[in-house]
Amino acid sequence: MTVKQVMVVGAGQMGAGIALVFARSGYQVQLYDNNKEALERGKQYIENIFNKDIAKGKMETDSKREAMERLQVVGELDEKPLTADFIIEAVVENLEVKQEVFRKLDKLAPEHTIFATNTSSLPITEIAAVTKRAEQFIGMHFMNPVPVMKLVEIIRGLETSEATYQTVKDLTEALGKQDVEVKDFPGFVSNRVLMPMINEAVYTVFEGIASIEDVDQVMKLGMNHPMGPLQLADFIGLDTCLSIMEILYDGFGDSKYRPCPLLRQYVQAGRLGKKTGRGFYTYSD
Ligand SMILES: NC(=O)c1ccc[n+]([C@@H]2O[C@H](COP(=O)([O-])OP(=O)(O)OC[C@H]3O[C@@H](n4cnc5c(N)ncnc54)[C@H](O)[C@@H]3O)[C@@H](O)[C@H]2O)c1
Repeated sequence: MTVKQVMVVGAGQMGAGIALVFARSGYQVQLYDNNKEALERGKQYIENIFNKDIAKGKMETDSKREAMERLQVVGELDEKPLTADFIIEAVVENLEVKQEVFRKLDKLAPEHTIFATNTSSLPITEIAAVTKRAEQFIGMHFMNPVPVMKLVEIIRGLETSEATYQTVKDLTEALGKQDVEVKDFPGFVSNRVLMPMINEAVYTVFEGIASIEDVDQVMKLGMNHPMGPLQLADFIGLDTCLSIMEILYDGFGDSKYRPCPLLRQYVQAGRLGKKTGRGFYTYSD
């Protein structure tokens, strides 16, 4: 299927990034969020990235204008009839919230529309099951920050058709990204490997083994990681990290995935990382 129009549901750090890469690659994009401020922040984020690209000589002013013209923000889902050929969801990492979003989209979207979720860890099959189009449903997992990171994990649900898979694989290529196909198991590959490492880093702080800065330093200087695990956790969002650990813990029923109590406490305190200005570190902008 040829995709011309795309809708992105959720304008947070991932949704805004996904909308940006589609608009930059020539697609008509609608960006929707049920929070007006988040929608405004999402649009501003896109504009800022384009401005930085212009300053670095990576983008022409005309290309920015054209990309921004292709981008439309939508404050209400049923404002107008949905026309997108492809809808990707990037709302919070919560099964019930995602299922509710897709129940609604299933009623409003044209029959041919393909649905994708950017979930980091939830079962694709279980989200798809609330729609009447499980064969047109897939996991398309972008990495953070979306404009920079090359990888997209593509995850087929139990009923995902070959045609849907092929369309999403082609879309990934059209965005200049590289795909890896993984099975529908909790955390897929990326977060099954990454998140226990982050959780373990939080445990080392919780148990007083080293300071936040020193844990990050060990992994940067000792393992050549570009960013320490606690800084990375702040970038991902501590609420998202906690949700993923809970999904791994529930999904495998294995105590090795038990979320660190300190991670839970930070989330309870509203210290969600960079997006709220404070997590393991403090951020001024
Ligand atoms: N943060 C990461 O590094 C990362 C990486 C890959 C995938 N993901 C996944 O992407 C998804 C979004 O993560 P994020 O980091 O962008 O989160 P975020 O908190 O930055 O953004 C979530 C957005 O969803 C909106 N939202 C919540 N409920 C909604 C609803 N019912 N309808 C419309 N909008 C709604 C919120 O207003 C918010 O703007 C999650 O599933 C997450 O697991 C995150």
